[in-house]
Amino acid sequence: MAAPVSSAALSYGILRRQPSPICSFSATFFLPLSSATLDQSRRVSLSSVWPSQLRSRRRSLPSLLAMASEKALASKGDQGLLVFDTEEELSASLAKYTAELSEKFIRERGAFTVVVSGGSLIKSLRKLTESPYLETIDWAKWHTFWVDERVVPKDHEDSNYKLAFDGFLSKVPIPPDQVCAINDALSAPGAAEDYETALKHLVNIGVVVKSASGYPRFDLMLLGMGPDGHIASLFPNHPLLNVTDKWVTFIKDSPKPPPERITFTLPVINSSSYVAMVVAGAGKAGVVGKALGNEKTADLLPVEMISLEDGELTWFADNAAVSMLPDKPSL
Ligand code: 6PG
Repeated sequence: MAAPVSSAALSYGILRRQPSPICSFSATFFLPLSSATLDQSRRVSLSSVWPSQLRSRRRSLPSLLAMASEKALASKGDQGLLVFDTEEELSASLAKYTAELSEKFIRERGAFTVVVSGGSLIKSLRKLTESPYLETIDWAKWHTFWVDERVVPKDHEDSNYKLAFDGFLSKVPIPPDQVCAINDALSAPGAAEDYETALKHLVNIGVVVKSASGYPRFDLMLLGMGPDGHIASLFPNHPLLNVTDKWVTFIKDSPKPPPERITFTLPVINSSSYVAMVVAGAGKAGVVGKALGNEKTADLLPVEMISLEDGELTWFADNAAVSMLPDKPSL
């Protein structure tokens, strides 16, 4: 267990840190790798109630999970949906979920690899920076990554690194050389290649696990979704959705500004052990309705292309975000 650290000490120590551009770690303190098996205890098999019968079953659902404060749950295979009255409750449950996975992976293999997106997700991580998680999570074993990054300097307002640093990373004692950020001195193609090279190194030394299909397999991805259904910097109908021969690629015509970004490819996302898809607010309701509703169309949104090879996807939503689901799971 990490020793309690005062917030004053944290901000003094961490505000001055710079991430290693190549994320070159020593593997000497890692335990022998075991395959990252899924914790079946959190799974609920409710395929027959997804999502059309959710209303009738949902009162009994929360007790099926060993997590506090869920207001509703549905599950189908490797997907689950948790709905909260408020974003505040969502944030509290997301912190508990993350802390439990941190404990599990650190116990199993001595490290926890966590990927974050940009956007409103970072604000929803705020409870992790507070008691009890600030004191109880073994932050020294965390390794953090970005699912996508804008090709701008790290101190730029558009930088996902800056967003995560200001809202999360500067408040928790993760060792600076375990924060794997983009090399912002490079162009978009160069930065993507550099990030992929860093990931290959981390796979080679055992910090990041390799999936059965040969992609990096992160322990947890904490992702947001755009109102158009994009995830990472993978946008609807964009050719980047079809890239399978790269782990990290780049885009120069992102419909969401800024235009130049690097992004994990879909197979890397689909190789994750756990994915939390965090959606809050009415602005996400239409796309959540399409992604989780009963009407399936051929034109899949990027978020609908998440199909984990051997993992578990959990949606963390507030009431507003599920307001256009056919069976609105509000209590
Ligand atoms: C980015 C993000 C992006 C984001 C979604 C959701 O760099 O733009 O990584 O994928 O997560 O657009 O963002 P919001 O929650 O702010 O809508």
